[in-house]
Amino acid sequence: MINLNKISLKFGIWFLGAMLILEIFLFFFLHTSIVDSRIEEELAALQARGNSHRDVLENSYNEETLHHIAVMEANADTEVIITDQNQNIFISSSKLDNEEQKIITKEIGQVPRDGETLENRWKSEKYISTVTPFKINQNQKGYVYMFRSTDQIQNLISRLNHHFIAGAIMILSLMVITILFLSNALTTPLIRMKRATEKLSKGDFSVNLPDMGDDELGELSRSIKILAEDLKHLKGERSEFLASISHELRTPLTYIKGYADVSRRKDIDESIRDQYLSIIFEETKKLSDMIKDLFDLAKLDKNNFLINRVEVELCSFLHSIYEKMLPAFTENGMELIVECKKNVNVNIDPMRFEQVMFNLLDNAIKYSNSNTKTSISVKSEKEMVVLIIKDEGHGIPKTDLPYIFDRFYRVDKSRSRDTGGSGLGLSIVKELIEAHDGTIEIKSEQGKGTAFFISLKELP
Ligand SMILES: Nc1ncnc2c1ncn2[C@@H]1O[C@H](COP(=O)(O)OP(=O)(O)OP(=O)(O)O)[C@@H](O)[C@H]1O
Ligand SMILES: [Mg+2]
Repeated sequence: MINLNKISLKFGIWFLGAMLILEIFLFFFLHTSIVDSRIEEELAALQARGNSHRDVLENSYNEETLHHIAVMEANADTEVIITDQNQNIFISSSKLDNEEQKIITKEIGQVPRDGETLENRWKSEKYISTVTPFKINQNQKGYVYMFRSTDQIQNLISRLNHHFIAGAIMILSLMVITILFLSNALTTPLIRMKRATEKLSKGDFSVNLPDMGDDELGELSRSIKILAEDLKHLKGERSEFLASISHELRTPLTYIKGYADVSRRKDIDESIRDQYLSIIFEETKKLSDMIKDLFDLAKLDKNNFLINRVEVELCSFLHSIYEKMLPAFTENGMELIVECKKNVNVNIDPMRFEQVMFNLLDNAIKYSNSNTKTSISVKSEKEMVVLIIKDEGHGIPKTDLPYIFDRFYRVDKSRSRDTGGSGLGLSIVKELIEAHDGTIEIKSEQGKGTAFFISLKELP
């Protein structure tokens, strides 16, 4: 049951240490204050006894009274010495010893009527003592010295110490037990989570953690579960991605290999060889484009894709794109138009944004027939600018829309060699827009056309 592994041990030791210091302080204060008040009580009692002897003496001062007092004290724990004004002894309850002698020969000044303490050092001295003056007919007559042996007090204190030690041992053992239980309760979930993360790092994502409530431990356990899910998902995605890549690379390579093989033959026509070579050239170009795209995506993923954002006037930027893309449209018998207001500024990287526009317009050309129109327009909405790229092409089936931004996703899976891209364009577009803190949405209807909506923050 008791798990003495490192973390609970550490926790236990810290806790125990802290409690121990606290306990020591507490006990120290308690002990000194009990002892101090005990000594004070003893001294007050002693002094009160001296005062009552004084009262008796002042009432009827004679030999008999003196004797009576001495006899009384002889039977008590305390001792009395009554002296005259010059500290010559009238009577004492027992035989004086050196210590008492020393005390009564001590010079005393003006003593208050209710007496004062002469000795309170119970640890080092043999007696604690008080003195009370008494008067007969308004004249100072003498002093009543009261003594109490410190042996008794020391006995008392040592009994008290025993109690304290017993109490301390009891509290300590209770504390140790509590700490063991507490640290166990606290560290068990931690150890569980540690094991879970170890499993994760070994590639086993089947993390099974119980619900640990709403506190920090619960939060941590939930985070680990989410992490496990994410890792599982990522792992799945990665293997899917690798499968797609190898597939995508294999197709053009098969063409290249096949056509190269045929071109090697001596007996084929020169014009056919040329045709094959240009196919090889095309496929090689496609391959190298794809590899470049993949490289871009990898860089975007690692977030080390440098985006140099500058303030750009959107309309003139779009016009420059228009100039560059128009020939491709006219070549395919298509129309391209730009509609925008001047003085709309955005914070973008012009080079990267050109890549976005190029990918989208390239799709518009690839997936539209001739005699159709593609438009680029700009709408301002609150603090946002929405850039709309709309074509009148084939459109995308509803079932494909949710996956259209996925890597390697193509509607036409068969991919005829002249229209087929690699399916990376839109995923690059999406990553780039997100790197610009923007969003991209798509609306498409099969047979009617497709529109992309890019929202960006407008600069004031
Ligand atoms: N404007 C569009 N009209 C119709 N279908 C489109 C349009 N844009 C994209 N698609 C569909 O979405 C798929 C994915 O587009 P994406 O740009 O990511 O890849 P691609 O064009 O096939 O290849 P790449 O752009 O990498 O050369 C395309 O294969 C196509 O089926
Ligand atoms: Mg494309």
